Formats: sequence, structure tokens, C-alpha cells
Amino acid sequence: MADGDLVTYYKLRASEYDRLYERPDRQDDIRALAALLRAVCAGRHVLELAAGTGYWTPIVAEVAGSVMATDINPETLAIAKTRDYPRGNVEFAIADAYAPRAIPGDFDCILAGYFLSHVPRDLVVRFLRSAVDRLAAGSRVVLIDNLYVDDSNLPISRTDADGNTYQDRRLDSGQIFEVLKNFYDGDELKSLVRPFAAKIEVERLTYYWLLWFEVA
Ligand SMILES: C[S@@+](CC[C@H](N)C(=O)[O-])C[C@H]1O[C@@H](n2cnc3c(N)ncnc32)[C@H](O)[C@@H]1O
Repeated sequence: MADGDLVTYYKLRASEYDRLYERPDRQDDIRALAALLRAVCAGRHVLELAAGTGYWTPIVAEVAGSVMATDINPETLAIAKTRDYPRGNVEFAIADAYAPRAIPGDFDCILAGYFLSHVPRDLVVRFLRSAVDRLAAGSRVVLIDNLYVDDSNLPISRTDADGNTYQDRRLDSGQIFEVLKNFYDGDELKSLVRPFAAKIEVERLTYYWLLWFEVA
């Protein structure tokens, strides 16, 4: 299920990745997302899928009962492990976000930051269903991702027959990857999760959105 090119891209980008969180224009949104995450994840036992370098992991760990931070790449997770977790409530595991059933533990919340946008459109329902099936009713699924903002996001290089959009991403090494990156608006997102949800909340910021839903 995992997209080998995407995995390789993020493996090679691991040491460059956190720069995106330093962009001055994004700081208000990043602070707002942190506040939203703290509110939505407070007291929860969180399974974080595709946690990457773990930018959000300590923020969630401040308030969560526990966090299991997972990613398919050891290189990104190694950076996540270097962050401070003063409450000692975080564990790490290599795992495929498309197979959350294989991750042991008791969770009442799944978080995936900037991963839905990399899921091919024909796999989105399957991805959402696998997350929901990992949780009991009343649990929460929390998704964060990008809005497309002209002159701020890289241009879309092409659109395929399924409506997936792509960007050409350049690493510091000069290597260029074509990366599938889909941008959702609030209405489309809500309709995607509605079949699984008892309650849906969407927060649309300037550069990002956060959607959480309660599992029906
Ligand atoms: C855009 S980054 C998001 C990182 C982090 N969630 C964040 O918000 O900063 C996408 C991450 O997905 C990971 N990834 C790609 N395919 C995956 C898969 N099938 N299962 C788990 N992680 C995957 C990559 O290694 C990368 O760390």
C-alpha cells in the first residue's frame, strides 16, 4: 500500500523537513493549530500516524494521556525521538499508516498531520475506514493539512485522470521528486468523513485546516 517514492522522498528530506515550521508567514497558523490540537487531544490516548519528525508530538503529549508516534521512515522518527517529552508518555514505532490495526495499544484518538494530502484519491476512503476501524465509537480522528495558497505553495505540476494533483519537490541535494499532493476544501472534506462520523468540526486557517470527527 505504501507509496515507495513518497517514502523515499520523506526519508531523504528528514533533515530538511522542519524548515517548513520556521516560515515566518505560517507562525500564526502554527500557533493556532497547536492550540486546536491541545483542545482536541486533551486526555486522549493518541495514535499518531505518519508522525514524521514529530513536530506535533510534544505539543499533543503535553495534554494527552499517551502518544504512540509512528512513521514508516526510521529517519524521520529518529528526529522525533530527540524532542523533549517531560511527561514520559510517548512511545515510538515504525508503522504503515495504511495498516493501523497492526499497531498494538489502546487508543481513543488517531492523529495524522499532512498525510491525507498524500493519499491517492482512490485510497482515501480505505485510509479513513482503516483509522475508524482501529477505534471505538466516541473516539476521535484528527487530520491536519494544507490549503492551497497561490504564491505560497509550490505550483501544481500536473493532474492525473483520478484528479490527483502533483508537485515537483526539490531536495537540497538537487534531486527532484514528483510528489502526489491533494488539496481539500472544507466541504469536500466533510463529505469524505461524513459516513464515519457522529460529529465533524473543521477549522480553516490561512494556510492549513484541521478537521476532527467523532467516530460514529
Ligand atoms: C508530510 S510528512 C508529515 C509529518 C508530520 N505528520 C507532520 O505533520 O509534520 C509525511 C510523513 O508521512 C510518512 N509516510 C509516508 N508514507 C507513509 C506510510 N505509508 N505510512 C506511514 N508513514 C508514511 C513520511 O515518512 C513522512 O514522515
